[in-house]
Amino acid sequence: MDKVIAIDGPSASGKSSLAKMLSEKLRIPYINTGSMFRAAAFAAQQKNISWENESDLADMLEKLNMEYKLNSDGEFDLCIDGTFPAEALRSSEIAAGASKVATYPAVRHALKLQQQKMKNLGWLVMEGRDIGTVIFPEAQFKFFITASPLERARRRLAQEGDKAGGSLEEVAAAIAARDEQDSNRPVAPLRPAEDAELLDNSSMTLDETFNYIYNKVKNAVL
Ligand code: DC
Repeated sequence: MDKVIAIDGPSASGKSSLAKMLSEKLRIPYINTGSMFRAAAFAAQQKNISWENESDLADMLEKLNMEYKLNSDGEFDLCIDGTFPAEALRSSEIAAGASKVATYPAVRHALKLQQQKMKNLGWLVMEGRDIGTVIFPEAQFKFFITASPLERARRRLAQEGDKAGGSLEEVAAAIAARDEQDSNRPVAPLRPAEDAELLDNSSMTLDETFNYIYNKVKNAVL
């Protein structure tokens, strides 16, 4: 078994906040694999490589040095060729690029190799869409975090306000459509591993969800 806490689930399910809280409380690295797809899109943009060009993207990733390193705040942050582009990775343009490049098998393969290498770090919490199914099928703990589209829309509106892209109903409909697309894509579709624990936190607070997971893992990790 790999010393990995795999946290998968759709966007706005609260999985990033949970993964971060676990990492802080357990004092283990937190790897946000979405950032790696965002970094691939960002690096391609910097190097004038098209998001449509699967083989150039894969060649680029083979040479790109992507590591999680302690930043000046003492947090593990993604470092690409010696720089920490965290802020630039959050833009909606880069999010769209990440979503595009994440559909290519060659890109997923290149990042999979990098993600699997991270088990050298010892215990870690890794968050994404396919950690329990594809990256670490032997992870010691697997959680699949979800919440209803309406609840996720509520959270997104609370977090992003006008930038969320419409009314509560509109945002909920967009989230449901994205779930459908992510769950039905041929490569690494979004789905719980058979042995993952499904956690619908629609009517739980973040702290309640955190405590539930923390109590399950603490004895093994600490
Ligand atoms: O979690 P995020 O929004 O930062 O992810 C960015 C994109 O990368 C998103 O479109 C989903 C994709 N992704 C993926 O396909 N597999 C992962 N393990 C993580 C993210």
